[in-house]
Amino acid sequence: MFCQSLTFSASCNPIIYQNATPVFIDSEPDTWNMSPKALEKAFEKYTPKAVIVVHLYGHSAKMDEIMKICNKHQVPILEDAAESLGTTYHRKFTGTFGKYGVFSFNGNKIITTSGGGMLVSDDEKGIQKARFWATQARDEARHYQHSEIGYNYRMSNVVAGIGRGQMKVLEKRIAQKTQIFETYQKAFQAIPEIRNAYGNRGTKM
Ligand SMILES: Cc1ncc(COP(=O)(O)O)c(C=O)c1O
Repeated sequence: MFCQSLTFSASCNPIIYQNATPVFIDSEPDTWNMSPKALEKAFEKYTPKAVIVVHLYGHSAKMDEIMKICNKHQVPILEDAAESLGTTYHRKFTGTFGKYGVFSFNGNKIITTSGGGMLVSDDEKGIQKARFWATQARDEARHYQHSEIGYNYRMSNVVAGIGRGQMKVLEKRIAQKTQIFETYQKAFQAIPEIRNAYGNRGTKM
């Protein structure tokens, strides 16, 4: 599996959970995310099962270029949008480009349920299967029967309630984060050694 190099370890841990081999793709200065050039080069050497792209610090990776490369090789994209809830790239939300997208509601994120996250996809069957695995993989039977190994990755109704409340402040938080970004950009613009990934929210990209 290909995975972005500059990221939090949780982006690549699932590769090891599956006994697969991670191949790290360099990140680029423009976005601090996966370099489309490095990705293209890696495809010359390997054929991965999937490509894990991350959108760090609320900045989208260059999804048009990355999607083009992955589509050419017919390899699915898994988007780690843990840090980019509300970010758009060409007016489309990050986490909705790939086959699957994941978001985090951990305590250090833009909104939080104290812990937990969200998986999104337009593949309904895939989501049903993920929900089955995430809720102990219990077969449809009146008794306890399991034909697959399951996990307890479910979100409790209590924290989901907190999440619904938090959704109401998301827009405000995005505006605040954008303002903070612009403040840093302005404050350091005269110092070439200090560089931000560019502000690629909304229509800027
Ligand atoms: C890029 C990235 N991926 C994955 C995660 C893991 O999310 P969680 O802690 O909700 O499992 C985080 C943050 O915690 C993150 O920043």
